[in-house]
Amino acid sequence: MSDVQYDQFLSRIYDDAPYFGQARSREPELFNGFYFKHLRDKTRRVLEFGSGTGMLTVPLARAGFLVDSVDISSSMQEVLAGKLRAEDSSVAKRVRQFTADALSYLGEEPYDSIVMPEGLVIALPDRALQIALFESCHRNLRKGGRIYADFVQPRYKVVYEQKLQEHTRFRTRDGDEYLLSVTFRNDRHSQVEEWDAVFARKGAPERIAVTVSFRFLFHSELQFMLERCGFKVIEIDVNHAGGLGFAVIAEKV
Ligand SMILES: C[S@@+](CC[C@H](N)C(=O)[O-])C[C@H]1O[C@@H](n2cnc3c(N)ncnc32)[C@H](O)[C@@H]1O
Repeated sequence: MSDVQYDQFLSRIYDDAPYFGQARSREPELFNGFYFKHLRDKTRRVLEFGSGTGMLTVPLARAGFLVDSVDISSSMQEVLAGKLRAEDSSVAKRVRQFTADALSYLGEEPYDSIVMPEGLVIALPDRALQIALFESCHRNLRKGGRIYADFVQPRYKVVYEQKLQEHTRFRTRDGDEYLLSVTFRNDRHSQVEEWDAVFARKGAPERIAVTVSFRFLFHSELQFMLERCGFKVIEIDVNHAGGLGFAVIAEKV
């Protein structure tokens, strides 16, 4: 069982916050195009692990895909539920939401496709958990079924400096202005990066502190993990989203 890091505050602010969901919410096609290029079958349910606020879930449902959306955070699921309520009922009813741990989730029947957009793989900040995720994908897929995943790579500056602090301002869709300070700490040996983020809303005295951590993966390690878990690697695009990250396709053998 992994920790729930995406609490109510982060879930609510996720799509607007730099370093978190802002880039994807501003340029959804850049990140989602990979999934639309490869997913075909709209008659069988697609399993989505780590659906977050639904930045892939909602576009998939709008395009006619049937999606089982699994996220461990009930507050992320609430944000997605709110977005689905704003959609036409024909779109909303294509999505089934499960607040569950992707590592132990077991669907009613095997899926053809599992999607893991924008980082669930690296949001599990431990090699054993990452392997457990691929093992869960293996259990949930039929033979020949495929994983489609994307995740960012660490910024070289953070790896080089090991510790770095940055400050930025942003405005939410509701019009709130925030100052965001993030301290990044990278450990080259474990490949784990911790982000201590402090949000200060203009005009409000309190500060909200959030810590998230990631474990980044090298191409060779990713390939090794997938093969060890019973997958054949079909493609690892190291230039995904304009060079920001990896996009991976792997098939259950
Ligand atoms: C980096 S966010 C990505 C969110 C989303 N996919 C997107 O496109 O922005 C990682 C998501 O994975 C979820 N998560 C973390 N650990 C999980 C687990 N063990 N099982 C299911 N979801 C998990 C978090 O709650 C969060 O919503």
